[in-house]
Amino acid sequence: MTALYDTAHERLSARLSPVAMGHSERVAATAAHLASLYGIDVERARIAGLLHDWHRETPAEELVARARRLGLDVTEVDEAVPYLLHGPVAQADLEMEFPELPDDVLAAIGAHTYGTAGMPPLSMLVYVADVIEPGRHQAGVDGLRSSSGARPLEDLFADAYAASLHHLVDRRRRIHPQTVSTWNDIAARFRR
Ligand SMILES: [Fe+2]
Ligand SMILES: [Fe+2]
Repeated sequence: MTALYDTAHERLSARLSPVAMGHSERVAATAAHLASLYGIDVERARIAGLLHDWHRETPAEELVARARRLGLDVTEVDEAVPYLLHGPVAQADLEMEFPELPDDVLAAIGAHTYGTAGMPPLSMLVYVADVIEPGRHQAGVDGLRSSSGARPLEDLFADAYAASLHHLVDRRRRIHPQTVSTWNDIAARFRR
């Protein structure tokens, strides 16, 4: 997977600004570190982290058009906030760009904006890496960082996802229907 990582890195750096590329490299490193803590395949985590923002800087109209062409579900919320589509559109496009990418890597990339039901371990890990990479300074991030590896990945992910939801509600933003489903799926796991 090292040769694939190098090719992916080269292709990504031709697409993204230096700032977005720096974030992607830090997410790759953080995902690899989390993978080593949680006994998950380190190289899969690293490349998923690297490529998760493949469409991070794609213009809004293009994201919506590509999503429609790919037959993805484009909800009212996606139309209002097309940025959310950068996860699922990347999953579909990267499957064609790099056919050798494993399915769990593609799924993790697709799930990093609004999640999915029954988040697989690699998807939870990439979601968390995106939230806690060293360039992030939002409230609560230090607690997530310091507890990484010390408690189950499900718990760490639930806290990271809850923090994102809080952020949306606090800023009076729309919540995507898939975000609600993902949250209900998380809440069901914690039902006492
Ligand atoms: Fe992203
Ligand atoms: Fe990101």
